[in-house]
Amino acid sequence: MNTPAKGRFITVEGTEGVGKSTNIAFIRQLLDAAGIPYIVSREPGGTPLAEEIRNTLVVPREESMCELTELLLVFAARAQHINQLILPALARGEWVLCDRFTDATFAYQGWGRGLSTDVIASLETMVQGVLRPDCTVLLDAPVDVGMARASERGDLDRFEQEKHDFFEKVRDGYLARVAAEPQRFKLIDASADLASVQRDIAAALKQQLAAYQVAANV
Ligand code: TMP
Repeated sequence: MNTPAKGRFITVEGTEGVGKSTNIAFIRQLLDAAGIPYIVSREPGGTPLAEEIRNTLVVPREESMCELTELLLVFAARAQHINQLILPALARGEWVLCDRFTDATFAYQGWGRGLSTDVIASLETMVQGVLRPDCTVLLDAPVDVGMARASERGDLDRFEQEKHDFFEKVRDGYLARVAAEPQRFKLIDASADLASVQRDIAAALKQQLAAYQVAANV
């Protein structure tokens, strides 16, 4: 009997306006071409309840949100998403392609807001157990480039309304994560033209896709 190939958990990260949506669509094409079964999701969000929490997080309001409230809401949404969607998909042998995950919490709430990364790491263990992404594509671009692209999209959400300095800290946070875990991260220069960004992504994921095809005998 054939054992189903193991599902893999791929996340895509970056500051605002680095082209996550366009490049997630491109990664979907790579997965389709390789014959890999997968689901696509996003954080915060991914289930109806987690999307409600997302809405609470991103919609600007008069009352300012405490940093700790923000952190706990992010992890509340994540607990729901992991248990309702991510773990069942991986158990079925499907890949999960997720637009942001806990690296965003370290970058935004840790480096951006200045919350303790030890506290974030404790919540990570509490909420995720041993679940960690197998591979993370970090789309990296200078903050000005991303902010200009994000502002073209019109109404800014609560995070997008933050100032330049906040996003510099977030970017530094992401790059520190890459330095700490160079094996897991695929660092992509997202300020380059789209064709070369996508060439770099395809090269970065080649090994993962080939390993699946060997395991699944595709
Ligand atoms: P989006 O830009 O991918 O639509 O995500 C919405 C916002 O949520 C984005 O500005 C980053 C923020 N965010 C956090 O602050 N912490 C997190 O853990 C995640 C997943 C997202």
